[in-house]
Amino acid sequence: MTNMTNTASHAWAALTAHSQTLAKKHLRDLFADDPGRASSLSLSFEDILYDFSKQRLDRETLELLVRLAEASAVPELIRRMFDGERINVTEGRSVLHVALRRSTAPFPSARMDVMPEVLVTRGRMAEFADLLRSGRCQGHQGTAIRDVVNIGIGGSDLGPKMVNQALRSLAHPALGVHYVSNLDGAQLAPLLQTLDPRSTLFIVVSKTFTTQETMLNAETARRWLEANLGDGIDLSRHFAAVSSKPERAVAFGVGAERVFPIWDWVGGRYSLWSAVGLSLMIAIGPHAFDELLHGAERMDEHFRTAPLARNLPAVMGLIGVWNTNFLGAATSAVLPYNESLKYLPSFLQQLEMESNGKSVGVSGDPVGGETCPIVWGELGNNGQHAFFQLLHQGGRLVPCDFIASVRSDYPLPGHQEALLSNCFAQSSALAFGKTEDEARQGMEKERLPAEQIAALLPHRVFAGNQPSSTLLLKSLAPATLGALVALYEHKVLVQGAIWGVNSFDQWGVELGKAVASRILPAFAEPSLAAAFDSSTQALLAYCRQSS
Ligand code: F6P
Repeated sequence: MTNMTNTASHAWAALTAHSQTLAKKHLRDLFADDPGRASSLSLSFEDILYDFSKQRLDRETLELLVRLAEASAVPELIRRMFDGERINVTEGRSVLHVALRRSTAPFPSARMDVMPEVLVTRGRMAEFADLLRSGRCQGHQGTAIRDVVNIGIGGSDLGPKMVNQALRSLAHPALGVHYVSNLDGAQLAPLLQTLDPRSTLFIVVSKTFTTQETMLNAETARRWLEANLGDGIDLSRHFAAVSSKPERAVAFGVGAERVFPIWDWVGGRYSLWSAVGLSLMIAIGPHAFDELLHGAERMDEHFRTAPLARNLPAVMGLIGVWNTNFLGAATSAVLPYNESLKYLPSFLQQLEMESNGKSVGVSGDPVGGETCPIVWGELGNNGQHAFFQLLHQGGRLVPCDFIASVRSDYPLPGHQEALLSNCFAQSSALAFGKTEDEARQGMEKERLPAEQIAALLPHRVFAGNQPSSTLLLKSLAPATLGALVALYEHKVLVQGAIWGVNSFDQWGVELGKAVASRILPAFAEPSLAAAFDSSTQALLAYCRQSS
């Protein structure tokens, strides 16, 4: 059996021994032992500072982790991805989302050059985006299109929606761009009430063009147009599509010239850089979209060429492995201190958990250890007044990524400094906590009576030692955001290499889809319910009685 611990056994054993020594040290000790820690345990890349000095590790940890990466053939996997090898072994596919941000051909090689189709598609997207942005794209009876609705789910929704929100300060002032993913009519129906069918364009985004949620929402959109604009309307004026199965989009009723391709070498969760990002390009314009791509491309080049110890995605991935496999963390929190990054936690949830939430390795054997932590998060400032209590005093190990930008796109007097001071305060309080002596002294200063101090003391102690990293961006410029997203994408590859999983398939989503397709007919034909377990039968019966 090959598994993560024995493919790299020496490196793994060295880290295990090291973790036992380091376990005796609090972050307070680590900072006291190494005054240069803040600079030696941080890296920067262009407009991104990655400060990981508040992680529970030291310089030796980093050296050992780099050895683990070498023993786990991380550099080899990086090379194989950029060479276009079929590293998505279970689907027999190359993994070439990095091609989507490039501007030069050939890539990955002259023999297998994907760039001509990438560049042609990017050009078509820009033309279409310009048509819409200039008001020249017409719907029914020549009305200019004013609203664009992206219908898609998972990778066909989260990436463009997240970046669209992040770059909303650049959004076209007269175009509304909306996202619909959920099967629940409570998302689509209220949106339709606000839209004028004559001036609405739907972009149906689905790599497979079979996804139930997307197909149902697209059909409902089509019925809404027909019902409101009358029979015989030219529906093709109101639809565009993005798919790796263009014939299915055309069969649905989208004009062939408005179907944009994606390719099987782009995974859904890595696809926002492709035509999947069309809604985003329409919102922010081709120029800003290009900047996003350039930022990601520069991070790709850094990832491909920088030595592991100075390689941001590699170091970030290794720290995640350290927290998961050597410190025992089961979760990882993403805490943006920037309202515009409010969808980043959901985006990263899919990116990380759909990629590395696996317990069977590339070889088909069990991986023999923990893999992807449970990724979750929320805007940090809101979280402070909600769940941070648990981070500070809940006694669980929850490594955190704090993400903030120095400059705000929406500068109001006093806001940005207050926001950043809260961000820095939280990571500091989580790391260093408050000792019994400090808590007692604080209460003595408040002149509390001795019995009250004694009663409150245990409640006012903070254990600290909660590890975190801070990603500080100069601003949320498109290029910086592109680099940030690429950073997380590559972190996933690094971790997948160490855990020995294929980060680019997602077999785990299939079972639920198949079961749902068997349950659906039982709503119309109750006798079919008998085929299911007793809990499902009872739930179906309750629906029948209650509907
Ligand atoms: O069900 C999971 C998934 O396949 C994701 O991997 C993907 O991003 C999403 O569904 C949407 O798939 P599609 O683009 O084919 O509709």
